[in-house]
Amino acid sequence: MLNKESDQRLALSEAALNQECIAAAPACFVITGVYRRTAKKYGKRARRYVQLEAGHASENILLQAVALKLGTVVVGAFDDQEVQRVLDLPAEHEPLPVIPVGFPPERTEE
Ligand SMILES: Cc1cc2nc3c(=O)[nH]c(=O)nc-3n(C[C@H](O)[C@H](O)[C@H](O)COP(=O)(O)O)c2cc1C
Repeated sequence: MLNKESDQRLALSEAALNQECIAAAPACFVITGVYRRTAKKYGKRARRYVQLEAGHASENILLQAVALKLGTVVVGAFDDQEVQRVLDLPAEHEPLPVIPVGFPPERTEE
């Protein structure tokens, strides 16, 4: 859960190599993982399992966005610590994908 109530899109975009899609999107999902929780049960496999699960969650967001005719993209290029700072995430919540969702540019039929 985001601890800040103000608009963080520009700062989040800057933390992600100034990717315009983040600054421009009306909504942006950030999936985070806490490896320690999963490691209690799965030990050294935890990182793999958390990242796989983040991928599954991402795919569901992407599929729903497509169903709603929205535009979206998976963003993995960002500075982890900057994203944590901008979103005021607890230290062990590691940001995994950032997923901006918005209105796609008008497309003409090809
Ligand atoms: C894990 C992962 C991270 C990605 N990170 C970025 C990113 O930071 N910026 C970006 O433009 N595309 C990134 N991509 C690629 C886009 O999500 C997308 O797959 C690509 O732009 C192809 O889009 P297309 O559907 O227009 O061909 C990433 C893809 C994956 C699977």
